[in-house]
Amino acid sequence: MHSDIKEILFTEAQLKERISELGKEISTTYQGEDVTMVCVLKGAVMFFADLVRSVEGNVSLDFISCSSYGDSTISTGEVKIRKDLDHDVKGKHVLVVEDIIDTGVTLSALLPLLRKRGAKSVRLAALLSKPDRRKVEVPIDFEGFTIPDAFVVGYGLDYAEKYRNLPYIGILKEEVYQ
Ligand code: IMP
Ligand code: MG
Repeated sequence: MHSDIKEILFTEAQLKERISELGKEISTTYQGEDVTMVCVLKGAVMFFADLVRSVEGNVSLDFISCSSYGDSTISTGEVKIRKDLDHDVKGKHVLVVEDIIDTGVTLSALLPLLRKRGAKSVRLAALLSKPDRRKVEVPIDFEGFTIPDAFVVGYGLDYAEKYRNLPYIGILKEEVYQ
C-alpha cells in the first residue's frame, strides 16, 4: 500500500466484481441498442476502460473533459468544456461515465448540455457517490458504491494529479493535503 494512504476502501478485486455487475445492468438496459459511452476525463479513465469491456452490444467511445466553475453560488448550468466530444450525439443513446459524484455540480451541468444537443437518451454511470456532500441532485442510473465524506484517491482519482495509478481506491491521509 502507498504510504500516503490511510485505508483501502475498495481493492482491485472488489472493483472488478462490482464493475462486472454494472456492465450486466447496462447491457440489460440498452437491450442491444447502440450506445455511445462518454468518459469524463481524467478521473473516470480506469473505470471507463474496465466498464466498456463488461458491456455487451454495439458501443462507441468518446471522451470529454470539463470543469465546473467552482463557484458555490452557481448551482447548475455552468460547465467549462476543456476538451469536447469528437462526435455529434444527436439521436444517440449516451451513457456518461464519471468517477465520483460529489457536490453534483459538474454533472448537473453536463447532462443537460448533452440533452440539449439532441441525444436520444442521456444516462449516468458513476463509480462512487458521496451523498453527504451533494449540493445539486443528480440521478445516477448505474452506481458502483456509496462512500462516506472522505477524500479518496486511486483507480483514476487524484489529489493534485497524483495517485491515479493506484490499482485500488483508498482514503488519503489528512496530513498529505493539510
Ligand atoms: P462534483 O463536486 O460532483 O462536481 O465533482 C467534481 C469532481 O471532483 C469529480 O469529478 C472528481 O474529479 C473530483 N472529486 C470529488 N471528490 C473527490 C475525491 O474524494 N477524490 C478525488 N476527486 C474527487
Ligand atoms: Mg479530479
